[in-house]
Amino acid sequence: MYDAICPHRGADLGVGGKLDRGCIVCPYHGHRLALGTDSNAEFSVKRYPALNVGGLLFAMIGAFDPGALTRMLDYLTRTHQIFAGLEKSVRIAPEMVIENAFDWAHFGPVHDVLKTTYGQPRIEDGVFTAELTLRVGPSMWQGTDDGTHQDDGEAWVEVPLLARAFSPNLTITRIAIGGGDHPHFVIASAVPMLDGTATVRLSVALPLNEDGSAPPKEVADLLLRFESTGLEQDRPVWENLAKMRPKYTAEDANVLAFRQWCNRYCLERAADRSASMPAAGAEASEIQSRVAAARASLSDGPRRRAL
Ligand code: FES
Ligand SMILES: [Fe+2]
Repeated sequence: MYDAICPHRGADLGVGGKLDRGCIVCPYHGHRLALGTDSNAEFSVKRYPALNVGGLLFAMIGAFDPGALTRMLDYLTRTHQIFAGLEKSVRIAPEMVIENAFDWAHFGPVHDVLKTTYGQPRIEDGVFTAELTLRVGPSMWQGTDDGTHQDDGEAWVEVPLLARAFSPNLTITRIAIGGGDHPHFVIASAVPMLDGTATVRLSVALPLNEDGSAPPKEVADLLLRFESTGLEQDRPVWENLAKMRPKYTAEDANVLAFRQWCNRYCLERAADRSASMPAAGAEASEIQSRVAAARASLSDGPRRRAL
């Protein structure tokens, strides 16, 4: 996988760029761009490692350690069937989409979930991890809203979640409806686009049947509809959030911990950008030293304590 922005003057190579004899020809001024930065060509685009699993393509951008993600995807391909799902565009920063899985305080007001229990978030194997148990009422789960939103015990379902962010752009969440032994997984990614929107992709992985055969696609479709409904419930809130300095409360501890964990990635992106700007010498070294400081403060030990 390669960068999509032309190093000459920034054209989007995904729109009209053409492969020609091992190079990409830029659609704007026609420069030939070498694939990968290991050549002496005047212009080149950076190459990133990528994983192609179950019809999903994962690009490892930045100083990304692929170990935990590779292990997770290995596990899923052995025990589950991945159903590539849906794609939506949302007018919000991608980190907000991923943060949503950890912002437990919004589940009640936005998604009609009356009760939640939750544990302290933690960083395991470099992955931001949080556990939540939801009680989901019939209005959300079965589409039979009786308007009361009262937990009558019978119709409400216990749903333990284990949400894991492998980067600020990717979560894989284990969901055990009714607390069962055969959880499914939701794979949610949010990619920043040049116009400031995020492209969100949602897929599900369902456990294989006991005889190793594939689970029914209808179940995957149902779960994807459920996830899609959740995202559409979030959308009007997200797209109307004001840009301001938030005033966090104790309930927002998960969000703050997630933001702290994300800082490392945000600083790395800023460092990458500043390194590619010729006039940014002092600013670049300032950003580089902030990245180094953030890395040091986010090594596993202190991170665990900070959370
Ligand atoms: S922007 Fe790509 S060749 Fe000019
Ligand atoms: Fe949400």
